[in-house]
Amino acid sequence: MEICWQFDYEIEIDQLRNLYAKAKQQQWDAARDIDWSHEIDPSRPIIDESQFLLGRLPVIQKLSKSQQETFRAHMSAHLLSQFLHGEQGALMTAAALTHAVPDYEAKLYAATQTMDEARHVEVYQTYIDRLAIIYPISPWLKHLIDVTLQSGHWVKIAIGMNMVVEGLALGAFHNMRRQTRCETLRAITESVLRDESRHVAFGSVYVGAAVADMHEDEREDIADFAFEAVKIMSDAQGGPDGKGRRASDPGFVQMLENVGIDTGDFVRDLVNASASGLRAKLPPGHVHSFRDLMMPALVRVGAITERSRERYAAAGIPIWDDLTKLESLEDPSRGDIEIPEGA
Ligand SMILES: [Fe+2]
Ligand SMILES: [Fe+2]
Repeated sequence: MEICWQFDYEIEIDQLRNLYAKAKQQQWDAARDIDWSHEIDPSRPIIDESQFLLGRLPVIQKLSKSQQETFRAHMSAHLLSQFLHGEQGALMTAAALTHAVPDYEAKLYAATQTMDEARHVEVYQTYIDRLAIIYPISPWLKHLIDVTLQSGHWVKIAIGMNMVVEGLALGAFHNMRRQTRCETLRAITESVLRDESRHVAFGSVYVGAAVADMHEDEREDIADFAFEAVKIMSDAQGGPDGKGRRASDPGFVQMLENVGIDTGDFVRDLVNASASGLRAKLPPGHVHSFRDLMMPALVRVGAITERSRERYAAAGIPIWDDLTKLESLEDPSRGDIEIPEGA
């Protein structure tokens, strides 16, 4: 990327100043502020039984009680490993933003996000150490972060990370905070969520003005990047239950092997479950990241153009542009997005 000095030290974007000020005040320390004295039960750290779709598959139900507990521990370790690796990706993209954003106050803000992400890597690594093992990053997640880091433009980095990856993560953290039975994980999620709400807000606040100022050709180039990022994520979902993603994820397959589950049986059961309409029961208030947070935010900043809408249509990716849910979670005076626990 181009070297980007900024010798005008005037702050003009108040929302970025506010995000920076808030970030400085809200720094927390995993070693000092998280109570690590609670016992962590690796077999039930995250998931509420009633929402545990995979637990209802025959291949899992025929396991002994202790095998099922082992499965839950490794499932959780696999999921949280994705958070851990994603946080490392966020650490690198935030550092790249610090380098590349043109405004002084944006550099200050991005430096705080870099430190936030370093603390997130630390806290998830510490927690997963107590669960099982760290599993490899899912290929689609690594691909998305690699593409973002190599995009060469700060607006693309902010779209790929702050809007797409962190938009997804914000919903996931919110849902996990509501569902987990592990006090330590709840405390971690609470703290991480507060930081992530600033990171997502940065994308919303800063990208919109930059896109509006662009020449039309440049805007279309940005819109193409946004489409590619959304497509990587959409493909990774592999259908509503994610069976496509799981069967082609070496880390997930390794997890099944570690627990002694046959991959072929597992995939067959997932396909049957999907065909018979078995769905995870989502609790009221469950946030759908793609529909409620990510897509409306991309539309609002101008990263989805009339021309790129056709690409989404051709790929069968619906565009949700209803801002109601997103806006109900935002507070312009505070400058960030906050999802209340009972939302
Ligand atoms: Fe993070
Ligand atoms: Fe983040």
